[in-house]
Amino acid sequence: MKNLVLVGFMGSGKSSVARRVAPQLEFEMIDSDSLIERRAGLSISQIFETRGEEHFRRLEEQIMTELADRNRLVIATGGGAVLSAVNWANWRRSAVVIALDVDSETAFERTRHHQHRPLLQGEDPLAKIQHLLAQREDFYSRADARVDTVGRTVEQVARDVLDLYERRVAD
Ligand code: S3P
Repeated sequence: MKNLVLVGFMGSGKSSVARRVAPQLEFEMIDSDSLIERRAGLSISQIFETRGEEHFRRLEEQIMTELADRNRLVIATGGGAVLSAVNWANWRRSAVVIALDVDSETAFERTRHHQHRPLLQGEDPLAKIQHLLAQREDFYSRADARVDTVGRTVEQVARDVLDLYERRVAD
């Protein structure tokens, strides 16, 4: 069975939804940020700080390349993983890609009390979110299907994701 890859902006709920969907499919859940942190022995913030964003993006690509050779995985990606052509090539051959959609205000509300996202640590995180979301919209729209998460529970979103995945793999 093809992997299920969840893409979407920071605060769209990728990890929570992946955690809920994986047992229902009897797939393994992989959080790519956590895997990168475990392997590097550093937090995402430390990687950005000491080695830079470019280095982080290469680590992310390495993980996606490895995971594309496996199956029965639900993969929660980092919000910027969609920027890489290498990642898309790997997902296209191995996965159904579902985007979780969120608007800027909701992303802001869901992320404002967390300090672990280096891209949102500046003076005006809402403006940064608006800017990045606009920049990335084209990339999220490449997904096989999209699910709105605004005003919806993890359970509701997970049900839609499961449904879309099953329809896609049946095609
Ligand atoms: C990033 C999103 C983060 C993490 C890193 C960069 C991004 O993941 O990969 O801080 O570029 O949007 P989440 O989407 O899980 O917060």
